[in-house]
Amino acid sequence: MDFLELTRRRYSVRSYKSDPVEKEKLSRILDSARLAPTAANRQPYQLIVIHTADREAELLRIYSKVWFVEAPIVICACGMPAKNWVRKDGKNYNDVDVAIVMDHLILAATAAGLGTCWIAAFDPAAAREVLGLPDGIEPLAFTPLGYAADQPPRKKRKPLSELVRYERW
Ligand SMILES: Cc1cc2nc3c(=O)[nH]c(=O)nc-3n(C[C@H](O)[C@H](O)[C@H](O)COP(=O)(O)O)c2cc1C
Repeated sequence: MDFLELTRRRYSVRSYKSDPVEKEKLSRILDSARLAPTAANRQPYQLIVIHTADREAELLRIYSKVWFVEAPIVICACGMPAKNWVRKDGKNYNDVDVAIVMDHLILAATAAGLGTCWIAAFDPAAAREVLGLPDGIEPLAFTPLGYAADQPPRKKRKPLSELVRYERW
């Protein structure tokens, strides 16, 4: 599958089968995330792989949609802002670094035939408590990881003419 086809195929999966994710596939997906670029190559993040079996109730405290715990695995991408590269004007790029890592992970999952969904609308306090996150570790995004039980919807996107400018504003 070429890269454009891969990006077309990815969509936010909001219904999952309980079928297990093969260990080999999980390793390959995590390795794609590991290869993501980060500012100054600091790699200031941690990925937490959570098996949902028997943890449904506490995970639903983090994000209450039932489909969040349907897949066998949920992954939490955490930033470590104090370890991140910071631009001279003080801009900390931790969110960007973690987003790139998460995007590698999500596209690798798509390439492996697995479904994912970016989740930012979770309860950070519940995430901290349930996952035992120490100070300085910021949960930034979650995704379930599993086989889709739904069908991809038609992509709704603005046309390029509304999104791209050439040479200047
Ligand atoms: C940073 C980010 C946060 C998101 N948070 C949520 C979320 O909390 N819950 C949810 O159901 N979808 C969430 N989404 C999914 C978006 O709604 C979805 O990507 C968008 O509508 C485009 O649809 P598609 O992913 O199927 O192409 C999020 C996506 C991104 C990139």
